[in-house]
Amino acid sequence: MLKTIACGNVRPEHVGHPVTLAGWVHRRRDHGGLIFIDLRDSTGLVQVVFNPADNASVHHIAEQFRSEWVVQVTGAVRHRPAGTENPNLPTGHFEVVATGAHVLNAAKTPPFDVTSDAALDELLRLKYRYLDLRRPVMANNIRLRHRIVKHIRDFLDDRAFVEVETPILIKSTPEGARDYLVPSRIRPGSFYALPQSPQQLKQLLMVAGMDRYFQIARCFRDEDPRADRQPEFTQLDLEMAFVEPKDIVDLMEELYLSIVKHAAPGKRVLTTPIPRLTYAEAMSRFGSDKPDMRFDLELTDLTDIVKDTQFQVFKNVTAAGGIVKGFAVPGMAGVSRRETDELIAMARTHGLGGLVTIAIDASLPSIDALTASHFRTQARGLALGEVQAMSARTGAKPGDLILIAAGPQAKVEPGLGQVRLDVGHRLGLADANVLAFCFILDFPLVEWDDDARKWDFVHHPFTSARDEDWHLLETDPGKARSKAYDLACNGSELAGGSARIHQRERQEQVFRLLGYDKATMDERFGHLLEAFEYGAPPHGGFAGGIDRLTATLADWGKNIRDTIAFPKTQEFFDPLFGSPAPVSDAQLKELHIRVVDEKPAAR
Ligand code: AMO
Repeated sequence: MLKTIACGNVRPEHVGHPVTLAGWVHRRRDHGGLIFIDLRDSTGLVQVVFNPADNASVHHIAEQFRSEWVVQVTGAVRHRPAGTENPNLPTGHFEVVATGAHVLNAAKTPPFDVTSDAALDELLRLKYRYLDLRRPVMANNIRLRHRIVKHIRDFLDDRAFVEVETPILIKSTPEGARDYLVPSRIRPGSFYALPQSPQQLKQLLMVAGMDRYFQIARCFRDEDPRADRQPEFTQLDLEMAFVEPKDIVDLMEELYLSIVKHAAPGKRVLTTPIPRLTYAEAMSRFGSDKPDMRFDLELTDLTDIVKDTQFQVFKNVTAAGGIVKGFAVPGMAGVSRRETDELIAMARTHGLGGLVTIAIDASLPSIDALTASHFRTQARGLALGEVQAMSARTGAKPGDLILIAAGPQAKVEPGLGQVRLDVGHRLGLADANVLAFCFILDFPLVEWDDDARKWDFVHHPFTSARDEDWHLLETDPGKARSKAYDLACNGSELAGGSARIHQRERQEQVFRLLGYDKATMDERFGHLLEAFEYGAPPHGGFAGGIDRLTATLADWGKNIRDTIAFPKTQEFFDPLFGSPAPVSDAQLKELHIRVVDEKPAAR
């Protein structure tokens, strides 16, 4: 080794002993005579002193040191002089008095300060990712990710799960996104697909009798870019045989709470046991299937209160079979006209026709004393009795603002859910140190795709309907509930899974509903359907995003890219390698591929 001790590990027992250190020059201060450097390696920093009076030639070498040079230093550890200690550093009571120094490698000045956690242009960070990862905050995120994955492996190993690798070059696996394709050289015109997840493979492992499987699996999805998506990402993928949804959800609960305890003990879990809501309840109360439960602002149904109202908008909506829902925002009655207009404009971007606001006078001694002169609203025709009833239903107090939307249920709930999120964040109700987990159960099995004019799966096509809902597939498929469940935390979907179909006839029934004819079924899923005929046990599982989980548990960083060593940009471009990139004509020829449209995509 080029060093005898790591920089961050210098402790009292080393005082008086010679050490050899190697690392990067983090900071360098030249006090005329004395030179101080903070030397950094992956464990932290230690101060090194070069005194020309002790050793002029070594001091001369240190005079050349610059930021981020890679150097080796020999010296003796001593206590720092009284009054010069740094209590913020684990090594802050010591320093190394240099008796030898070598430059292992000089360095150009980095394009940004790697000693700071200041916000930087992300393109620059990703182009120089190897420098970005020197930043302590980023290095911490990568270590956190390691601790999470290590804990998952230990936890599952203790419970007799076996990690099994599955192939990356496979055949298309429908999980709702487009596939990334890999052309075959030796089978002209044929392609492998990269797995969107190991879904079918883990189900085949259940048929194989490998009844407690997991894998830290890389998944590939060519989907529309979004802040919390990457084209390749990592899942904890897990499957068990002979289980029901509750068994898997119980296991997920124990696992995720134990990950937090071991990997991010500084975070506070808001509610245990983790609340379990049905999909219908989550949509009704929070307008989201991944509700941020760090704050209340719960939606309440006001339809019955306003069904005979003189306020035309509500009257028309209720007459047409729509709903009216709202929630009270504490202390927000004082919003200006401009802020109200902004709220309404924001609501429109979330698919709502608009927003009715009712501001309750803060000077009112009690909400029971509400009169017509104690509230302001743009809704002409709302009767005092209606406002009183809505205040009571939403739990509004004097000084609160009630926000109300009306329209079809399928628009009002998700739209108001987005308004709830926006307002909650605006009021600072979403504490970053709090983790509010919740399970969402009983998702619908299928939903109607209006554009394609057909039923589409909500989770994936291998998910089972609830036993009592199978008959609905023939009569009213949209009403059939599935055995799918999600784990959400702070408004983000961390994991999802389901109990699967394990019988050929049932699987074919779902494929038929999704519009696959017999030939398509055989061509795309023949292997799975056949496997179900050789003694497939009932089984189920889940997959959890490791990138999203790490981002949720990290103290620094806003997006999943901050938890991945070498991610793509939000536009799925890699500025470090410059990929995707054209390849040579020779490579294309070998693969039997001709590029027709060579216009490069905008970056
Ligand atoms: P699903 O598609 O819900 O389920 O994915 C599971 C979890 O993976 C994470 N995730 C992503 N993370 C980053 N970038 C993406 N593009 C991305 N897409 C998904 C999310 C999500 O909750 N095979 C099923 C699981 C099962 O049924 O067992 C599946 O993949 O955190």
